[in-house]
Amino acid sequence: MDKLQIEGGVPLRGKIRIGGAKNAALPLMATSLLTDQPIVLENIPKLSDIKTLSGVLMSLGVSVQEPEDKLNTLILQSDHINNVHADYDLVRKMRASILVLGPLVARHGKAEVSLPGGCALGTRPVDLHIKGLERMGAKIILEDGYIRATAPKGGLKGADIAFPLISVTGTENLLMAATLAKGTTHLINAAREPEVIDLADCLIKMGAKISGAGTHTITIEGVPSLKGATHPVLADRIETGTYIAAAGITNGELELTNTTLDTLPTVVSLYEEAGLCFNKTKEGFIVSRKKGIKRLKSVDMITEPYPGFSTDLQAQFMALMSLSEGSSTITETIFENRFMHVAELIRMGADIQIHGSSTTIKGKKELVGAPVMATDLRASACLVLAGLAAKGQTTVSRIYHLDRGYEAMETKLQACGAKIKRIP
Ligand code: EPZ
Repeated sequence: MDKLQIEGGVPLRGKIRIGGAKNAALPLMATSLLTDQPIVLENIPKLSDIKTLSGVLMSLGVSVQEPEDKLNTLILQSDHINNVHADYDLVRKMRASILVLGPLVARHGKAEVSLPGGCALGTRPVDLHIKGLERMGAKIILEDGYIRATAPKGGLKGADIAFPLISVTGTENLLMAATLAKGTTHLINAAREPEVIDLADCLIKMGAKISGAGTHTITIEGVPSLKGATHPVLADRIETGTYIAAAGITNGELELTNTTLDTLPTVVSLYEEAGLCFNKTKEGFIVSRKKGIKRLKSVDMITEPYPGFSTDLQAQFMALMSLSEGSSTITETIFENRFMHVAELIRMGADIQIHGSSTTIKGKKELVGAPVMATDLRASACLVLAGLAAKGQTTVSRIYHLDRGYEAMETKLQACGAKIKRIP
């Protein structure tokens, strides 16, 4: 398994191009199941999660092509679905495979999708996806680890679906299913993430009738069929937030391009409170510490559904707070077990205490490089950030986690002066 070897202490200076968002690309790829015409997605990031979902879609009979003459583009077409069974072996690799469930039931009348199983972050059930489809008339049986779903005769029916808690892919799955249901669907207490809006924008291009995406209630009028579309994937706000932290933690200055600050309202305001400043440029923005700031300030943070502080940036923010002045509390409200990076940061000298879903971080003057292990996607990013700032050498192992959500991270960082290399 590959490792990343990092010599810390170099302030990063340079330009980093941000890729398309993994968490927008995945649901967008699933829209190919809703029509027999081609879906062309641009600004697709080169990530293992994208490969995994391509594999699941191809196992269902979707053709997935990467045209040579167009970089970062996928053309998906499901004009001959010959299988509605999404196998455990494929689904267990990535829970977001559950996103094929809604489209398969909506357009093909049935689906057999493996239950995704838990992951490092916790049990992560999909009960809300299932209950929503049942409210639209689907018959669902859970047996031998599979979700067996069948639409009623005449297809799914529009329904009012209220989410007891906010679910991003739950909203996305039911949003896709509702586009082809008979009648009107209201998704109440829907996720408001920018990736949900990006999905709705693409579905509208395909002929879906959707209003309210990005608000608490999304209304969908079902239509008999959808056509193909071409859609550029939204810039990755989590990758953006990660490289902002890289500039902050190394006391460097980075220009991040092909991205925006508009999809990170709360994250930006907390970074500013900690002592970072942002200057918009025509390609994106420049981020650095405010003039004369020796050390960043400790700031309290709590993760919340969008537009709150994203749970996917919690670990990265904790790396920053490990070196800031003062002490801060970070509370994780979305997942029950998203502190696996804490033990690894402590090995590098961080002073962090966990109390249930909260942590107290006493900022240290320095961290010391050490061999550490990545446990999940965003924890790996946190450890790379800590390694970039720590004294001495850090090796981060199991970085296949990192490759799921960050395209060529070491190459992007090397280009900005980081002493980082991938060792097999
Ligand atoms: C999406 O996961 C993202 N993944 C996650 O990003 C992100 O952390 C998460 O939303 C929260 O923002 C993709 O978009 C592919 P949820 P998702 O359903 O949809 C509970 C990353 O690092 N829940 O919003 O799976 C669930 O257990 C990944 O890129 C139920 O109880 O998350 C969790 O506690 C990690 N029942 C909470 O809701 C359900 O049916 C939020 O989960 C569904 C969810």
